[in-house]
Amino acid sequence: MNIRITIGAAALALGLGAPGAWGAKPAAVPAKPDAHAAALAASQKCMDCHAEAEPEDKSAAGKPVKVDVQAFAKTMHGNGKAACVDCHDAEGFRKYPHKEVKPPQCASCHEKAVKAYAETIHGQARAHGNGVAATCANCHGTHDIKPTSDDDSMVSRGRIEATCGACHGDTKLAKDGKVPGGNVVAKYHDSIHGRLLHGDTKAKDRVPVCTDCHGTHDMRPKKDPESAVNRANIPETCGTCHGKVKKIWAGGQHGKMRAANVLTAPGCTDCHGTHTIADPKTPEWQVGVIKECGGCHTEYIKTYRDTYHGQVTDLGYTRVATCASCHGSHEILPKDNPFSKVSSQRILSTCQQCHPKANANFVKFQPHANKHRKESGLVLYYTALFMQVLLAGVFAFFGLHTVLWLYRSLAERKAQRGRAAGEGEKH
Ligand code: HEC
Ligand code: HEC
Ligand code: HEC
Ligand code: HEC
Ligand code: HEC
Ligand code: HEC
Ligand code: HEC
Ligand code: HEC
Ligand code: HEC
Ligand code: HEC
Ligand code: HEC
Repeated sequence: MNIRITIGAAALALGLGAPGAWGAKPAAVPAKPDAHAAALAASQKCMDCHAEAEPEDKSAAGKPVKVDVQAFAKTMHGNGKAACVDCHDAEGFRKYPHKEVKPPQCASCHEKAVKAYAETIHGQARAHGNGVAATCANCHGTHDIKPTSDDDSMVSRGRIEATCGACHGDTKLAKDGKVPGGNVVAKYHDSIHGRLLHGDTKAKDRVPVCTDCHGTHDMRPKKDPESAVNRANIPETCGTCHGKVKKIWAGGQHGKMRAANVLTAPGCTDCHGTHTIADPKTPEWQVGVIKECGGCHTEYIKTYRDTYHGQVTDLGYTRVATCASCHGSHEILPKDNPFSKVSSQRILSTCQQCHPKANANFVKFQPHANKHRKESGLVLYYTALFMQVLLAGVFAFFGLHTVLWLYRSLAERKAQRGRAAGEGEKH
């Protein structure tokens, strides 16, 4: 074994004492050869010092300034693509003690990315003085940047949750740094998308990670009309994967209203939530969504709660009809549309799903009869009124009955005790 050759090869690969390794001219750097040679010489000086830095030598931000130059040399930048002074290009670094300490730059080689970032929520927030918003380094790393296609990259599907989570998954930082939405990552982690991402099924590679819904270098706040998660654009964003559902929803009343720019009609997240999306087949969810329908259709949930169906689902059971059992979920239509599940044409088959013996008479039952209003039918109104009077009467009668009974039994007990005491004295 020729040890010397091995060491020599390693040194060459690391660029140590071998300017040639840095000399491989990166395609993206149109620097003149002499300027480049000067940059390499300067980098060598940086490395000589920074490879040996003491643990107590810290940057202004309090981080140790020791650089693992061997690890760096193996990265896509360190491997001859970018010298120290390409990123740390401030004149102040060329002498020690450093004077003009400036943040690193990426624009000389990644002009497009830098321009795009400046328009994102994070770039805008930084420009307006938010010191917590993500920089290039927060998402990509510093001296360890890997190709975005690499599974170990900080922006890979497997790691992106943790990368965003450094801020959006830190409850305390979210509070102190005014990060909107609080600990979004914890919610996402437990959602159906998050759980499938960490699971073993085929869906693992198809469920959305943060950047699938929010974008990357085009990430905007939800209030921006161009944001992928702006209220108006959410169905489009979910629809990139759930195309079939989106199509059905678009044909329903809610989707039609949205197409007519009625933003009060529900898109996907009004019923499903965003970072908390759960399996819609579970009873908890199916019962829970009644509240979402009811939040907008306030009159209809009140009348529903008066029915047997409404009272039983209120206890958490889905065996009886929820709003969606009668109206459908994505295909909801007004009752006068023949395709509506509650239209006169289809109502029978809708009830028959659970009441196989239902007939034309059975479906005369009014699921939304308002017993508090005369317009809902006089019979119902007076029946309800009669029931109320009857109930009050029954309570009054039995109330009085109970009081009298109590009075009588107390009186009897007193008399009994009097007798018992009398007998005791005799002995
Ligand atoms: C003589 C040794 C020495 C040389 C040469 C040197 N540095 Fe430093 N550098 C330090 C020390 C020590 C610190 C820690 C802070 C301080 O003491 O100023 C530091 C700090 C830094 C920081 C952190 C600044 C901050 O506060 O955020 C950067 C970046 C840096 N150096 C880059 C470079 C680059 C690029 C070069 C080459 C052009 C270079 N250094 C050359 C010793 C050196
Ligand atoms: C691809 C661009 C890039 C290259 C090349 C690069 N750095 Fe850095 N460096 C960064 C970034 C990004 C940071 C983080 C700055 C921040 O967090 O504000 C950083 C931070 C530092 C710091 C401060 C300590 C820290 O970890 O925050 C030192 C010291 C430093 N670099 C030295 C060097 C030296 C020496 C070289 C050459 C061996 C080098 N850098 C090459 C991008 C680069
Ligand atoms: C909020 C996180 C985030 C921030 C901040 C960010 N990036 Fe990215 N970047 C990503 C993600 C995620 C990808 C992968 C995109 C993809 O695969 O479509 C990416 C891709 C890239 C790429 C490769 C694709 C391309 O567009 O050329 C480069 C280069 C890049 N980023 C550089 C930067 C630079 C430079 C900055 C700072 C100006 C920056 N990024 C800021 C998340 C971020
Ligand atoms: C001197 C030029 C130069 C500078 C400065 C530079 N880079 Fe790069 N960077 C490159 C080159 C060249 C590549 C492509 C390497 C390859 O494809 O093998 C690259 C690749 C990348 C990638 C991976 C892109 C992909 O398609 O996977 C990211 C991310 C990245 N750089 C981020 C940064 C960040 C962040 C900074 C600033 C802190 C920075 N770069 C500064 C030259 C540079
Ligand atoms: C399935 C798509 C989807 C995924 C995946 C997703 N989001 Fe969101 N996110 C949204 C939508 C839609 C909104 C807008 C919610 C609204 O209008 O209330 C949003 C809002 C946000 C907000 C603003 C919160 C607020 O209340 O102001 C942040 C921050 C955020 N998401 C971060 C993340 C992070 C970090 C991840 C990854 C862990 C992630 N999101 C994953 C769709 C998604
Ligand atoms: C270093 C901290 C940090 C990291 C890492 C980070 N963010 Fe942010 N993010 C912030 C801060 C701070 C804001 C608030 C900016 C403002 O409005 O002032 C923000 C805002 C947002 C918003 C806009 C919320 C709204 O609608 O108002 C979204 C969406 C978002 N981040 C998603 C992400 C995603 C996705 C990732 C990962 C790819 C990520 N962030 C990584 C700190 C971070
Ligand atoms: C990147 C693609 C993608 C995006 C974007 C996406 N999803 Fe999903 N979603 C999936 C995959 C994959 C599953 C796993 C079930 C499957 O294979 O269909 C899933 C599961 C679901 C489920 C559970 C369905 C079931 O059968 O268990 C619901 C509900 C859901 N998504 C709603 C949404 C909503 C709402 C949005 C938008 C805020 C959204 N999704 C965005 C890919 C996506
Ligand atoms: C009005 C409330 C509501 C809206 C709006 C809504 N959903 Fe649903 N969604 C439901 C209900 C209820 C179910 C359960 C249906 C069932 O039990 O079969 C469901 C089921 C699902 C499922 C799983 C079952 C299936 O049909 O594949 C997915 C995926 C889904 N919705 C995605 C979406 C997407 C994407 C949007 C927006 C385009 C959306 N939903 C809009 C109420 C809604
Ligand atoms: C975010 C508010 C919202 C939610 C949540 C919501 N809806 Fe609607 N719904 C509307 C709006 C707005 C219309 C359109 C009213 C119109 O046509 O003028 C509508 C229309 C309807 C219609 C057609 C009748 C009509 O008046 O046009 C039915 C039936 C209906 N919704 C049932 C439901 C059911 C069932 C759910 C739950 C699974 C639900 N809605 C969830 C807002 C909502
Ligand atoms: C047992 C079946 C059934 C259940 C459960 C049910 N509905 Fe209805 N719904 C109907 C029928 C039938 C009609 C048409 C007759 C009427 O207006 O009373 C209707 C009418 C409506 C309308 C008006 C439709 C139109 O075209 O004018 C809305 C809105 C509505 N329901 C919402 C809801 C909501 C919200 C829930 C749950 C809280 C719910 N429904 C539960 C059967 C049901
Ligand atoms: C998802 C299943 C389901 C659907 C759909 C449904 N029901 Fe029911 N309903 C039940 C169950 C379960 C009960 C409990 C009594 C029983 O077992 O028969 C019940 C009870 C009732 C009751 C009161 C109890 C009784 O038997 O006197 C009436 C009235 C009723 N349903 C009418 C309807 C009408 C009308 C429709 C159609 C518009 C309908 N239901 C649709 C499941 C459903």
